[in-house]
Amino acid sequence: MIYVTNPKTVITETRIALKNLGKINPESIDDYIFNGGYQAIAMALEMQPNAIIDEIEKSGLRGRGGAGFPTGSKNRFTSLSCDDCERFVICNADEGEPGTFKDRIIMENDPHLLIEGMLISAYAVGASIGYIYIRGEYDLSISLLQKAIHSAYSRGFLGKKIMKSNFSFDLELKIGAGSYLCGEELTLLESIEGKRGYPRIKPPFPAEKGLFGKPTLINNVETLSHFPAIITNGSEWYSNMGTEKTKGTKIFTLSGNVNNPGFCEVELGISLYSLIYDFGGGIKDGKSFKGALLGGAAGTFVDSSMLDAIMGYDKLKERGATLGSGAIIVFDEDQSVYDLLFSVLRFFQHESCGKCIPCRIGTTQILMLMEKLKNEHNKKDILAEILYESEMMAKTSLCPLGQSPVLPIRSAIMYFENELIKNNQ
Ligand SMILES: Cc1cc2nc3c(=O)[nH]c(=O)nc-3n(C[C@H](O)[C@H](O)[C@H](O)COP(=O)(O)O)c2cc1C
Ligand code: SF4
Repeated sequence: MIYVTNPKTVITETRIALKNLGKINPESIDDYIFNGGYQAIAMALEMQPNAIIDEIEKSGLRGRGGAGFPTGSKNRFTSLSCDDCERFVICNADEGEPGTFKDRIIMENDPHLLIEGMLISAYAVGASIGYIYIRGEYDLSISLLQKAIHSAYSRGFLGKKIMKSNFSFDLELKIGAGSYLCGEELTLLESIEGKRGYPRIKPPFPAEKGLFGKPTLINNVETLSHFPAIITNGSEWYSNMGTEKTKGTKIFTLSGNVNNPGFCEVELGISLYSLIYDFGGGIKDGKSFKGALLGGAAGTFVDSSMLDAIMGYDKLKERGATLGSGAIIVFDEDQSVYDLLFSVLRFFQHESCGKCIPCRIGTTQILMLMEKLKNEHNKKDILAEILYESEMMAKTSLCPLGQSPVLPIRSAIMYFENELIKNNQ
């Protein structure tokens, strides 16, 4: 397929998680309230908790943290996991995936939206304590959230008997120490409990046995930021957006060799081409598009044959690619796929926690093979060995980090095998 670049075209954004961006002062709770803020929790408190979960389920919302798990089902599991027991809700704001900076944009521009989303989810599942686990490097998000939590307490949106109801909810920030693995939900629980960031064995899932052994609902920042709009406008409104199986909007973060790197929130179902050319303004310096890494380091490489791909969890999966966190890292004709793949694999080696042998040794061995690929002649065999190692890691590693390198490796080979074989010969 031949694509014509038209840097003048623009895309139409549909903003839900970013609806207040540029419209309110993130430090002002009054601005948030003036723009309709905290009306959704007021509506939710008039509903039965189950009815809220029904709405979230019917909306078709899926987790925006990367895995795309149906959010309503997770709420349901957590609410049904025990009768009358203590439960927790946690917002995953660790945002460690390379190329991803969407949660930061939400937190820096609309911290009360996230707090309201957490309030609704906590009321729905019967939790009275919540935590936002946030990446330690996000200084501005941290200070804005601290301020927002403080003002929400002072206005009666947090604390005891919220808005004169019987619902009470306390919210606290927990600041991470900079480990990618601590964004993985079970490792995150260990970290909040004050332990070393090692993953737990799954099952049990957090909905059943999470923080301090209690049922726990863990959702991403962007996921929770959709809750207020779903309650205010209804599940039907939400499910009318997106594709058949991937509803609503998504924030995409575009970086690399594009004219206009940045972020946009659009209905799912947009094409990769439109994101790169209509939003991103095409490839920098008049060069041609060579490929992109979709979904961050734990994502998949694609080439120009995938420019017509539809951005949705299932649509991309059908074509062997991933949506992940919505990161799109674009590279032009002059970039070396070997170098890109090497840096992705070095990232995994650096972030491997070392708890299990397949990943601890495997990530290092793969890097050694990558060095061999550069310097030796039997490149086809070395590439096959790299793929084999990553497949073994995927089968035998303890947690999803060790299962991730196979995705970029397999896709890089699928689209760029010739280049990887020819590299430096
Ligand atoms: C190594 C690793 C890192 C992760 N990092 C994050 C992260 O920074 N933020 C996030 O929301 N989810 C992250 N996840 C996914 C979480 O485990 C979990 O699926 C997510 O927080 C659930 O929220 P959601 O259903 O709203 O997407 C990570 C997963 C893995 C395996
Ligand atoms: S797969 Fe890697 S990150 Fe996960 S437990 Fe094993 S060593 Fe740690």
